[in-house]
Amino acid sequence: MKILITGAAGLVGGHLARRLANAHEVLALKHSDLDITDREAVRRGVIDAMPALIMNCAALQVDDSEQDLVKAQAVNVDGPCFLAEAASEVGAEIVHFSTQYVFAGEPLERAPYTVNDEPYPVNVYGRTKVAGEAAVRGACAHSYIVRTSWVYGSGKKSFLCDVHHDLRAGKKVRAIDDIWSSTTYVEDLIDRVMTIRSTGQYGTYHVVNDGICSYYEFALEAGRFLGLTRQQIDSLIEITHERDMNRIAVRPRYTPLRCLLSEQVGLPPMRDWRVALAEYVRA
Ligand SMILES: NC(=O)c1ccc[n+]([C@@H]2O[C@H](COP(=O)([O-])OP(=O)(O)OC[C@H]3O[C@@H](n4cnc5c(N)ncnc54)[C@H](OP(=O)(O)O)[C@@H]3O)[C@@H](O)[C@H]2O)c1
Repeated sequence: MKILITGAAGLVGGHLARRLANAHEVLALKHSDLDITDREAVRRGVIDAMPALIMNCAALQVDDSEQDLVKAQAVNVDGPCFLAEAASEVGAEIVHFSTQYVFAGEPLERAPYTVNDEPYPVNVYGRTKVAGEAAVRGACAHSYIVRTSWVYGSGKKSFLCDVHHDLRAGKKVRAIDDIWSSTTYVEDLIDRVMTIRSTGQYGTYHVVNDGICSYYEFALEAGRFLGLTRQQIDSLIEITHERDMNRIAVRPRYTPLRCLLSEQVGLPPMRDWRVALAEYVRA
């Protein structure tokens, strides 16, 4: 299958491009290769490539979106719409990634969010991702919207991606203990997305590892898998709080996900987040 990937230098796009190249003809386009906000370039690129599947991994991240509404609209809404229009024009399917940040994250300890829960984003990123989903659905009937959450894997600088490296090196880390979500190992995300695509069931999916944790619990578990003692863990991990982070964009506090559509098509829940994290720590 010919697959066109946008945002291919990012965490998800980079892993997708490497993994899928083993079995497919992959056209991995970084931001510098294709700016998805350029409607004509998108249309030309898609018509020239004639892919069977487009996977949009381009996005403007949370704080950047809060600081630049115009750019957030362009990257998270208009660009996905242009890609979906082009997919429709050439008869391709589209996978568009979205986020647990479409939800409000309140109250704490509520049931995991399903596709039946109304989005209620609390920041610009979430609002533009909701609008981006709608734009993709509207422009291409053959679309898979994949909401995922707290994705980690090699090759990106982030707390979830790096905490086990830091702990292994004996570096102190600060871990937030008052915000919870589902986590997603990027390798598991790719496996499940390709399984979903093979079902041909278009719709909105929630693709995450099973279970819920805070950043602090994630760090604790990483330390445990590294074989650190409780004393070592306690001396290396300093607890901090979301409310003290002074972030540019507010984060929803409690956003675990559950996938009704996967259940309907007979897919089991993905493996527990601890099992996935253990594999990442060992890799
Ligand atoms: N990572 C997570 O925890 C997480 C959680 C939930 C959902 N998601 C979703 O998963 C998807 C992939 O996220 P990710 O973590 O892989 O993001 P990422 O690492 O930030 O990568 C996004 C990529 O998009 C590129 N990009 C930005 N503007 C672009 C444009 N106008 N045209 C083309 N490319 C552009 C960026 O390139 P430049 O840096 O060069 O601009 C970057 O390489 C996104 O839809 C995101 O909303 C991610």
